Amino acid sequence: MTFKWRGKPLFVRHRTEKEMAAEEGVNLAELRDPQHDKDRVVNPRWIIVLGVCTHLGCVPIANAGDFGGYCCPCHGSHYDASGRIRKGAAPLNLEVPFYEFTEDVVIVG
Ligand code: FES
Repeated sequence: MTFKWRGKPLFVRHRTEKEMAAEEGVNLAELRDPQHDKDRVVNPRWIIVLGVCTHLGCVPIANAGDFGGYCCPCHGSHYDASGRIRKGAAPLNLEVPFYEFTEDVVIVG
């Protein structure tokens, strides 16, 4: 789902077991902006990122692209299901904002 948070789109995604396993198993040497999935999540079931492409700021499309995550329609950057840049012009991973789970279903940013 996409929410508006502090004037920006916020992507909140409930990941499948397969997605969690795939993202946890990515070889960091393959990444342009190396970051382990476990360092991008509070609970691996959920990925929460700002929906702002790190190239020039367009809003990526969720559940799209070559890596099962997000694809930016402006210049074709592809992000994986951890929001990490995998292909295209963007230099950095999608930003993970600070947040915490205060209850099972309540997220506070
Ligand atoms: Fe997303 Fe250029 S703004 S690829």
